[in-house]
Amino acid sequence: MISIKTDEEIADMKRAGKIAFDLLNYLENVIKEGITTKEIDTLSEKFVINRGGKMECKGYEGFPASVCTSVNEEVVHGIPGKKKLRKGDIITVDLVVSFNGMMADTARTYKVGNVSSEVDDLLTYTKEALYAGISKVKAGVKLNEISKAIEAVAKEHGLGIVRELTGHGIGKEMHEDPCVYNYSNNESELILEEGMTIAIEPMFTLGKRNVWLMEDDWTICTQDGKQSAHYEHTVVVTKEGYEILTGE
Ligand code: MF3
Ligand code: CO
Ligand code: CO
Repeated sequence: MISIKTDEEIADMKRAGKIAFDLLNYLENVIKEGITTKEIDTLSEKFVINRGGKMECKGYEGFPASVCTSVNEEVVHGIPGKKKLRKGDIITVDLVVSFNGMMADTARTYKVGNVSSEVDDLLTYTKEALYAGISKVKAGVKLNEISKAIEAVAKEHGLGIVRELTGHGIGKEMHEDPCVYNYSNNESELILEEGMTIAIEPMFTLGKRNVWLMEDDWTICTQDGKQSAHYEHTVVVTKEGYEILTGE
C-alpha cells in the first residue's frame, strides 16, 4: 500500500527535511582531516535536536548511532566510531530526521581534502543521477522512469550500480512502499500520484557493483574495496512535477 500524504503531513516532512538539509550544509565545514566519525555523529545529533528534530536512525532495528557514516569502500550503514578521516577519503553521511512523527531521509558524500579525479567524477555523476531521477518525478509518470534515468547516468560513465539497496516510500515510517530501484525494473507498473513521498538514492561504485555485509552486521562495503558514493533526497510528487523536501 502506498500512502498519500495530507498537506499537513507534507508540511511536517518539509520541516524535518529542512533541518536535515541545514545539517548536511553545516557538515561541509565540519568534515576535515582528523575528525572521527563518532564526532560527526555527536555534532549531528546536537544540531538536529537543537532545532527540534528527532533522529530516527538511532535505535532503528538496533542501529547504534544517529547518523550513518560510510567511508571510502563503505556504501551505506557505516557505524560512527573511532575512525579518523584522512586526506583523500570520501565519507557519506545519511540520516533520517522526523518532525511531528513525519520523516525525511537524505544523504550526501563529502570529500576530505583533495581526492583523485576518478573519485571526484564518481561523486559528480552519482549526484547527477540523483537529480536525473528527481527530474522525472510528476503525477501520472511511471515509477520506473526514475530508475531508468538513474541507470542511464551510471551506464554513460561506466559506474557500478549497487542493487541490494533501493530508494523507498517514506512518511510515518522510514521505509514504505514502493521500492525505487536504481536500475530499470519493470516489476512495478506503479504510476506516481500527487501526494506520494519517496526517497530517491543512487549508490554508485568505481569498480564492480558487488557488495557484502561486514561483521558488525550493518556496514555494507564494495567487495573489490573500490570507493562508493551515495546521494539521497526525499521528494513529494505534485501535479506539475515535484518538490524536494530535503532542500532549501
Ligand atoms: N537512511 C537510510 C536509508 O536511506 C536508512 C538508515 S538505516 C538506519 O534508507 F538503521 F540507520 F536507520
Ligand atoms: Co538515507
Ligand atoms: Co533512504
